[in-house]
Amino acid sequence: MIRFLSLILAGLSMPALLFSQSVTSPDGNLKLTFSLGQGGVPHYSLSFHEKPVLLASRLGLTTLSKPGLESGFNLLSAENSEKDETWTPVWGEVSSIRNHYRELAVTLTQPGAKNRNLTIRFRLFNDGLGFRYEFPRQPELSYFNVVSELTEFNLTGDHLAWWMPGDYDSNEYLYTTSRLSEINAFEVFASKEKGEKTQAGEYVVQTPLMLKTDGGLYLNIHEAALVDYPAMNLNVDRKNRSLSAHLVPGPGGVQAHLQTPAKTPWRTVILAEKATGILDSKLVLNLNEPSVIGDVSWIKPMKYIGIWWEMHVGKSSWNYSDTGNLKLAETDWSKLTPNGRHGATTERTKFYIDFAAEHHIPAVLVEGWNVGWEDWWGNWKEEVFDFVTPYPDFDVAGLQAYAASKEVKLIMHHETSASVTNYERRFDRAAGFMKQYGYDAVKTGYVGRIIPRGEHHDGQWMVNHYVRVARGFADRKILLDAHEPVRPTGLHRTYPNWLACEAARGNEFNGWSYGNTPEHETILPFTRLVGGPMDYTPGIFQVKMDYYQPGKKEAVKTTLVKQLALYVTLYSPFQMAADLPENYNRFPDAFKFIEQVATDWDDTRYLDAEPGDFILAARKEKGTGTWFAGAITDENARTLTLDLSFLTPGEQYQAELYLDGKEASWDKNPMVYEIKKQVVTSEMKLTLPLAAGGGAALVLRPAN
Ligand code: NOJ
Ligand code: CA
Repeated sequence: MIRFLSLILAGLSMPALLFSQSVTSPDGNLKLTFSLGQGGVPHYSLSFHEKPVLLASRLGLTTLSKPGLESGFNLLSAENSEKDETWTPVWGEVSSIRNHYRELAVTLTQPGAKNRNLTIRFRLFNDGLGFRYEFPRQPELSYFNVVSELTEFNLTGDHLAWWMPGDYDSNEYLYTTSRLSEINAFEVFASKEKGEKTQAGEYVVQTPLMLKTDGGLYLNIHEAALVDYPAMNLNVDRKNRSLSAHLVPGPGGVQAHLQTPAKTPWRTVILAEKATGILDSKLVLNLNEPSVIGDVSWIKPMKYIGIWWEMHVGKSSWNYSDTGNLKLAETDWSKLTPNGRHGATTERTKFYIDFAAEHHIPAVLVEGWNVGWEDWWGNWKEEVFDFVTPYPDFDVAGLQAYAASKEVKLIMHHETSASVTNYERRFDRAAGFMKQYGYDAVKTGYVGRIIPRGEHHDGQWMVNHYVRVARGFADRKILLDAHEPVRPTGLHRTYPNWLACEAARGNEFNGWSYGNTPEHETILPFTRLVGGPMDYTPGIFQVKMDYYQPGKKEAVKTTLVKQLALYVTLYSPFQMAADLPENYNRFPDAFKFIEQVATDWDDTRYLDAEPGDFILAARKEKGTGTWFAGAITDENARTLTLDLSFLTPGEQYQAELYLDGKEASWDKNPMVYEIKKQVVTSEMKLTLPLAAGGGAALVLRPAN
């Protein structure tokens, strides 16, 4: 009944149904219906408590050689199965994850194309749907080129959307909140900003796309296990409230080059009646393959500091000299005239190592240590960095010994400047150099236009590159954090050494652009973080940049305390304390929170949230009984209530509360705070007053 209704609603003429079959979620609330209509065209629809969520939506792909995989299908088989298992992530927000779904796998055949086969596999969880296309090995389909994917998500109304423009090269945008019918990506094109941006179209958005229906249902559309395929943007049909796949193109108009057996990533739709349900969902992780790394004992979440923010605020430079137009192989780097502002010196690195050792921060990142930064960006140049030659003022061997003596790890930096051919050629030597000098974590970066020229950051070739790099580092027991990669799709389950990615607009924008809005960090967990952890680089205490240079307008649009709360509300196993040690030394009592906060968790409770407004979360540190709580708000001051019933009943906890000062606000008085201590129990509720653009951060430590 619902199916027929939805076909009419979708504005399609009633197709003669060749076949139709449904499957429900384990709790029976969600129902997926697959149907094969007139002309052998496949569709699916989704309902929740018998109300449509997705109306009949098309499935299929067009290919370079005709006919494509879009019509003329008959049913070959439809198989149902169910799985219920619990698995243990190597690290994460919780210590164990249940993977419970019902599956329907339909195999279709095309009599008009020598009975070519295609399987569409649907998995229905209590909190949503995943489905993908599978292309079995077969005589009539070996090599083929996908020109477009026809997958649709036909929505039931003009939902509210939290979206960013569709783009082939960048995710470093602010989010816009609007009705679907009001989406216009070109209106928010921030051309004045640094970074590589290639907008996909006026009515194209990126995933994860967050939606809310007028009935109050939250929906999130994304993808899982993106491997050997381009990333998916979404075309928005504003009139018909319909979304459709818009793959990132490769050169020559082909989006994916495939060889059977092959499969697409999973298309995912997460559903929740409360906003916190989206944050709780493990659907994307469950659709990824288990870890391929055997011994994972070396993989450890961590906090770090780094020679980094000082370059972003213009206090020091990545480059050693101010000489331009240098050729990597022909330059004698020891003869260059130093500019006197180089950040990554031996002395400065030792200062950071000392600070890390003193404050129990396990690691120090050093950017600008290697030659090539004199003209690294903007020229689409291939030979920029070699990843093995330090600047003359950076003593690699000496620092290795110094860091080891203080039990601090150094984190390598590989900025590729998007010259990926160069990086791949030099990868083995670069990784060997790291091992030689005791580096077992690396931050990569892809600023600029991609080489091979014609490829995009989010296209199939680069998607494969990021995975190659993650595997290459896993083989050498090296942890990875990637900046400017394609947005994550849960692959950290498969490659748990791949701790984090940037792939969104991080705190860095506050140093040199008009920055992030006070609401930005309340949206990220509902969008970008649905795919995996982000290296957002929180912890900026000196929030106004005129501190460094009078007249500078740039500022972090949060209070200092909100920067603390982000360690809890923005999940990542790789968290930077991003400000300069000098600034932390000005506020040692506030830094105590960063010093204590954990990066790995046994349990997580998203207690209350609304995208664009606020988030309240509590997490239990792995292996201890200590809880940390974080609350953040947008530009509006608000009071949240922290119900402590998650604490162990009957136990007393010593609570430390880091609160916005009474007069605090992100724009007028961002750096005032109060620290309170009190004993609490599970029966109590704490009132947390959050300033405009503010937050609250708590440590709750068992008293005994
Ligand atoms: C952009 C990265 O996001 C940032 O963290 C890094 O400092 C610069 N590129 C330079 O590599
Ligand atoms: Ca970046």
